[in-house]
Amino acid sequence: MQIQDTNEKHTQVLENGRMYYANEKIAYILPHDIDECVRLEKQHYGLKYYFQGNFNAPVKKQLEEGITVLDAGCGPGYWTLDMAKDYPNSKFRGVDVSDFFPKKYKPDNCEFVIGNITETLPYEDDTFDYIHQRMLLLGLTSSSWDKCLKELLRVLKPGGYIEIIDTDYKNSAFLKKKKKKKKNTVSEMLESRDIPADIPLQLEERILRTGYVNLVETRSFLPLNHGGEAGKLMWQDYYHGYLNVRPLMIKDNPEWNDPQTYDLFIQKCAIEANSNKTSLNWHIFCAQKTLSSI
Ligand SMILES: C[S@@+](CC[C@H](N)C(=O)[O-])C[C@H]1O[C@@H](n2cnc3c(N)ncnc32)[C@H](O)[C@@H]1O
Repeated sequence: MQIQDTNEKHTQVLENGRMYYANEKIAYILPHDIDECVRLEKQHYGLKYYFQGNFNAPVKKQLEEGITVLDAGCGPGYWTLDMAKDYPNSKFRGVDVSDFFPKKYKPDNCEFVIGNITETLPYEDDTFDYIHQRMLLLGLTSSSWDKCLKELLRVLKPGGYIEIIDTDYKNSAFLKKKKKKKKNTVSEMLESRDIPADIPLQLEERILRTGYVNLVETRSFLPLNHGGEAGKLMWQDYYHGYLNVRPLMIKDNPEWNDPQTYDLFIQKCAIEANSNKTSLNWHIFCAQKTLSSI
């Protein structure tokens, strides 16, 4: 198979003070800038704390001995770099449409490339023993999820593991009773862009249909703005995410051009999450490529 060089820079546009990609092949709704990188760093350490570690797939021994790992949609590479430090015998590769990952100063066992996980990745068939993909919910349309699962299956070695971690935004949504406006919540905005807000509920079927086997799903309910320090941390991340998505929310809700009105909306969400004991539904899927798929 011919491997294309996907190491291309994307045209960017400024929306309400935030940088976005102007590329119809990138559906991602969060900006590509330093403030978003800061949020992702806090989110990484928050999730590591919640889940008491960086992964669920049964690959610890292999990681210690030395395997090749892909972080698909790695962002600035916080998971990739953390894992590269913990498992120096393994090789880590990160791929993302955004080039905020480290280019020069990084561990020797870490490499990053720009690439779109819904297209052909710059790796040969059967390259990786383990593929990790976390929080692509806000970036993949319904059809691109299937393309991505297929492409990751191609680059996974027979017997290798894939681990996908994502949240179900639709069923953790806020202010349902006050939903007077057409596109009020993030989940409605996602669906108007053909991005499935409840993708974790669809992943079992999609993963098996793509041809992965031995699928195991784990569900965790992470408290939002209740349940002590952990809930506060999760809310801070959610709050920051809501602020970062404002430039796109404004398009359907012009009154949110006023930052104070928007902030008031988020504060209502905070109160609602606390009083309703809202939790974010996290789903972790681990599956394998069959030994006889090729
Ligand atoms: C919420 S961030 C998560 C980053 C990282 N996985 C983590 O957990 O820290 C989602 C990332 O997916 C990337 N992304 C979105 N669509 C993509 C695509 N089609 N191909 C590759 N990366 C993509 C974004 O640029 C962003 O860095």
